[in-house]
Amino acid sequence: MFALKPERAHDAGVFLLKTTQKILPKAKKNISFLAQKIFNKEILHPVCMAAGFDKTGEVFTGLIKLGFSFVEIGTFTPKFQAGNDKPRIFRLPKEKAVINRMGFNNPGILTGLQNAQKLIKNSNNKLNIAISIGKQKETPLHKAFDDYRTQLIEIKNNKDIVQNCLYAAVNISSPNTPGLRDLQNSKYLSELIYLCKEVTDLPIVIKFAPDFENMKDFQNLVKSVLKSKASGIIVTNTSTKLINEPYVPEYIKKKGGGLSGLPLTEISEKYLQETINIVQQQIPVISSGGIMKPVDIWFRLCMGASLTQLYTGFIYNGPYLIKDSLKYLEKKFNEYNIKSFEDFQKERNYICKIEKINSKT
Ligand SMILES: Cc1cc2nc3c(=O)[nH]c(=O)nc-3n(C[C@H](O)[C@H](O)[C@H](O)COP(=O)(O)O)c2cc1C
Repeated sequence: MFALKPERAHDAGVFLLKTTQKILPKAKKNISFLAQKIFNKEILHPVCMAAGFDKTGEVFTGLIKLGFSFVEIGTFTPKFQAGNDKPRIFRLPKEKAVINRMGFNNPGILTGLQNAQKLIKNSNNKLNIAISIGKQKETPLHKAFDDYRTQLIEIKNNKDIVQNCLYAAVNISSPNTPGLRDLQNSKYLSELIYLCKEVTDLPIVIKFAPDFENMKDFQNLVKSVLKSKASGIIVTNTSTKLINEPYVPEYIKKKGGGLSGLPLTEISEKYLQETINIVQQQIPVISSGGIMKPVDIWFRLCMGASLTQLYTGFIYNGPYLIKDSLKYLEKKFNEYNIKSFEDFQKERNYICKIEKINSKT
């Protein structure tokens, strides 16, 4: 795959999954001790696929067969969107990073839901998904509410999808839709969550960026998510700040984008810690950003994340990362004689002390 240009490689991977997912054998493992009930649904284990890989809702069966517990499909917008001009994905292999400025290329929510419905029906309604929704590029910021609400109504109207959907992720943190990150302010966010909850019973989960100038602003946002009674938080999306690092070539810097992968690990962990300190287990926190090896997942769970999401780590390591991570978690659970995720959460503070992981909850 690395011999191909990044977007070609992605398209080839998606094509391969699309054509083989029906016959692909299921990754088998006795991991019932990793199961959790979150968002009122049973989730097999805490390793899932982040938004932006299955942008059309056509390959999540294959990804789940490769071992992910669920896939966050999308990000969708109300109508089809071509996205930014190519090239729009770049690899930095030495840094184990990716820079993307895709710009929400997607078939539109209706087609996305129809695609997903087909896969769900073919699998006897036994797959979990989450759905990420964003704003159409042309929609002015003051009308962005409508884009989120329209899509939530479309989701609500599709019973097969609702039955299998863990949550709707409200994406206000992509760096590639001009102005979108401006929605990350407490007043707007509270109103957005309120308006979203008005049209759906699905859990609403908010995804944040890792680039706040002032950590206080981020802390206030997390507090407003709690106050507005959203159901969860994803931290973090890709970073625009990291694009300015010296290792990023000038021709990529010039056009901007969001950086993911290894250089994001430390920053994402910092934002996770800040979030956990405020949330104090009142709602699930999903950790995304720079998860490149099994121990990263263990760390994030110990810090207090309920679930973890992979993307760039999956690009660099392939499906082995899922298998190895589950094996590693099994080893760690055995080491501490933990028999269930519930027990793990009870013992988490003690484990953090032994493992010297900074956790204040
Ligand atoms: C090519 C690419 C496309 C992405 N598209 C989306 C997207 O549509 N919606 C979204 O919320 N995040 C998107 N992301 C961000 C990922 O979901 C994830 O939050 C981010 O890459 C950090 O995780 P990582 O370091 O494991 O890749 C995308 C990331 C990449 C690399």
